[in-house]
Amino acid sequence: MANISKNSYIEYSYYPRNAMKDSFNRTIDYVRIAVTDRCNLRCFYCMPAEGIPYEPKAHLLSYEEITRLLGVLGTIGFKKVRFTGGEPFLRKDFMELLESTSRLGAFDSINITSNGTLLQKHIPRLKELGIHKINLSIDSLNKDRFHKITRRDDFEKVFETFHMLLANDFKIKLNAVIMSGINTQDIIPLAELAKDHSVDVRFIEEMPFNGGYKENLKMYSAKDIYKDLKTHFPNLKTLDMKHGDTANLYKVPNHQGNIGVIAAFSRTFCNTCNRLRISSKGDIKNCLYDDGVFNIRDYMRTGVSDKELQLKFQDLLRLKPKDGFEAEKMRKGGSKNMESMSVIGG
Ligand code: 5AD
Ligand code: SF4
Repeated sequence: MANISKNSYIEYSYYPRNAMKDSFNRTIDYVRIAVTDRCNLRCFYCMPAEGIPYEPKAHLLSYEEITRLLGVLGTIGFKKVRFTGGEPFLRKDFMELLESTSRLGAFDSINITSNGTLLQKHIPRLKELGIHKINLSIDSLNKDRFHKITRRDDFEKVFETFHMLLANDFKIKLNAVIMSGINTQDIIPLAELAKDHSVDVRFIEEMPFNGGYKENLKMYSAKDIYKDLKTHFPNLKTLDMKHGDTANLYKVPNHQGNIGVIAAFSRTFCNTCNRLRISSKGDIKNCLYDDGVFNIRDYMRTGVSDKELQLKFQDLLRLKPKDGFEAEKMRKGGSKNMESMSVIGG
């Protein structure tokens, strides 16, 4: 049994195969955890140029707390974990966190979402740990546009990392947020990466989570993106969606990777939602569009047992809203565009 908490009695070596169902009969077995709110890029759809006020380190979940939470989630049937941020590789103990998560043995798949600026040197260790699923954010293949979007000059480094990951047989998804008048001309070049490379490309509708810096969105919708793809690739095939898929999936015959379009703003995928989010401060989000339903960090710091944590997660999951529109209606405070995605964790 893993020595995670003195007052735990849960047998961590026992992980049930059956995951929880929420009140809409959706199986919830995927947790996304933001390990930091810090980022070294300043993507303008995520935060203002000056960045967002960071939480003091003591307010972030510690290494022990994250490991403990993941262990407990394993005991209620969670099978997939994704580490996000901010930029997760900015966290000094991130590799140790991956190691302890891998040691837990609870998860069939350990995934990372990264901006790709800091991970090159970790590739060998990631391989040793068997962590080979990485989502990389690349919104443009044009160096100047990349700079304009991220406000940093890191395109070459990120693109080199992308190729290194490919050469090392990582399973990569490339995320691109598509915005009117900014990078719609990148849709086809990005999609074409999937022709000769084994990479899946995901186009994401812009959401209003940008730290309060910009108000109106001139939406380039999932439909608009699909139209561009279909015009360029007339033989584009639609693939079936699987449980938990947020992307409408397409494939150009003979291309190695597939293409996905994520209607993150239109929210057409909520009926297959399988996820729970934990922010770097321990705010639990049942939906990307709620404003935090409970703070698990504060609860844990009162000295509760693992059993109490387990029951709390089960209670919270029962409250999972039907969809992102319901979640948005239930928000207690603040306009939704006051949050930054680097706090929410993508
Ligand atoms: N709208 C849509 N996607 C966003 N991301 C960050 N902010 C936004 C936003 N406002 C994306 C990042 C990353 C993923 C985790 O979320 O580009 O790929
Ligand atoms: Fe950083 Fe990701 Fe936000 Fe860009 S979108 S600033 S890479 S957290």
